[in-house]
Amino acid sequence: MKVLIKDGKALVVADAAARIGDHVSHYPDATLGLATGGTMTPVYQELARRHREDGLSFADITSFNLDEYIGLPPSHPRSYRRDMEDRLFAHIDIKRTRTHIPAGDAADPEAEARTYEARIEAAGGIDLQLLGIGVNGHIGFNEPSSSLGSTTRIKRLAPSTIEANRRFFKADEAIPTHAITVGIQTIMRAGMILLLATGERKAEAVAAMIEGPVSTFCPASALQFHPNVTVLLDPAAASRLALKDFYLAIHPNGEDQDLL
Ligand code: PGA
Repeated sequence: MKVLIKDGKALVVADAAARIGDHVSHYPDATLGLATGGTMTPVYQELARRHREDGLSFADITSFNLDEYIGLPPSHPRSYRRDMEDRLFAHIDIKRTRTHIPAGDAADPEAEARTYEARIEAAGGIDLQLLGIGVNGHIGFNEPSSSLGSTTRIKRLAPSTIEANRRFFKADEAIPTHAITVGIQTIMRAGMILLLATGERKAEAVAAMIEGPVSTFCPASALQFHPNVTVLLDPAAASRLALKDFYLAIHPNGEDQDLL
């Protein structure tokens, strides 16, 4: 794992957007794995700016999102389809037919999950997977106890995830309890992974992911087996890493320079 500790959240966002932007420029027909969550909002804003001001084109990009709430139709204001539309798709030139998010309102969610996995495979897999991490170490909605060999399926959300999502729902709105999520193995098949975490509340999960044992207790720890993972952190999210000074010595200021 390449652990880059940036001097603040703004630099995490700028670095992530630059990496995604460079990938899209070099591989205009790439398949991107996209994530939702508050951490991604400024990253998508910066990608939209690059499209608007620098001409970065997503016209031939294919995307697959990680997950969707079961029970919410695509038009629901809290669905991840709407969220992606509002925060990114409406602001860039990606073709909607090339954007994929599981259908939360599918009559048969299990069949929808199987079809989604097959679609990713048929597209040739994910080239660059963008990830956040939950306070409980989840990636996608692969909550603790998720099989590290899992593919796309239905998951029940952990109480801490439902609690963390509360801020996105109105007080009188029911918060979804289940989701269709890609699996850990689906994520592990991506060519490259870019994981972002900021803020103190992620520090424990980040330490478990990078330095803890590989365990379903922290699903993100499975990434230790992936050969091409870059983790972008701010100092608060990095604060519980035992080897923080070592990572900073290898990559001063979180710069991604050659090792020798
Ligand atoms: P957040 O969510 O970016 O809103 O903190 C990340 C996640 O749960 O994966």
